[in-house]
Amino acid sequence: MIVGLIGAGHIAQALAEGWSRSGLTAAPRLRFYDVDSEKAASLAARCGGEAAASLAGLVAPCDLIVVAVRPQHVDGVLLSLAPLIEERVVVSVAAGVTMDRLLGSLPARSRVARVMPNIPAALGLGVFLLVPGTVGPARQDVESLFALAGEVVALEEELFDAATAVAGCMAGMLARFVEAFTAAAEAHGVPADTAARLAMGGVHGAAALIAREGDAAAVSAAAATPGGMTEAAITALDARGLAAAVAAAVDAATARAKDLA
Ligand SMILES: NC(=O)c1ccc[n+]([C@@H]2O[C@H](COP(=O)([O-])OP(=O)(O)OC[C@H]3O[C@@H](n4cnc5c(N)ncnc54)[C@H](OP(=O)(O)O)[C@@H]3O)[C@@H](O)[C@H]2O)c1
Repeated sequence: MIVGLIGAGHIAQALAEGWSRSGLTAAPRLRFYDVDSEKAASLAARCGGEAAASLAGLVAPCDLIVVAVRPQHVDGVLLSLAPLIEERVVVSVAAGVTMDRLLGSLPARSRVARVMPNIPAALGLGVFLLVPGTVGPARQDVESLFALAGEVVALEEELFDAATAVAGCMAGMLARFVEAFTAAAEAHGVPADTAARLAMGGVHGAAALIAREGDAAAVSAAAATPGGMTEAAITALDARGLAAAVAAAVDAATARAKDLA
């Protein structure tokens, strides 16, 4: 499959890295286009693939187009794309841009899907929320493509913003968690670089364990020996409103997605 990425920014880079990891069978051939031709060229050099000098040049050999520009640029890109796409599948990864808005800018019967990726896609550990939209039987191709860089979860569009607030925003939120634990260890006198290594290593191992077990509550219960340190830590987190803070974060991100639409 030949995949064309419009916009060579942060998420395009994560996707391209995820799709170009060594040893990946069935990796797509990648093409890049950005208003800043140097960005497209540097991504092509870094991940393998070709930079196109124009949108038409990008689209011509491609089977599938990924629109990876900021939400406020999506309408303009789609208007330019409309006369070029013919039967090609278009996937938008823009936050808050609904199927109605995507289809409104493209010819009738266009094959369009929404996917919400996240940055761990670069490591092949992405979570991709999928609204299959109007892609029909090509859904299999879309799922197979994104599954090369992580896990694909299909869901109804009404749930997309809240789901994005969890999966899409997780790297940023968890990074704040790591920073907070680093600062807490430093406050107890642990040197800064050691504190950061402890927090990052702890998160990495714990996340892998929880993913393997598939049951966060069971891992929490197993880790919290009655009367022990972890139980004391969890009790303090709960008493300070961890659940309420997380709910507020998801509410805020969901509301922000609606503002972007
Ligand atoms: N970053 C994430 O973690 C993440 C996660 C999930 C989804 N997304 C979605 O992915 C999209 C891109 O986000 P991003 O963080 O990658 O943004 P970004 O880093 O700003 O990248 C977007 C790129 O598109 C370029 N661009 C603007 N208009 C263009 C046009 N007409 N044709 C071609 N290229 C154009 C921009 O150039 P200029 O800078 O010159 O405008 C920029 O290089 C957004 O819609 C966002 O909602 C992002």
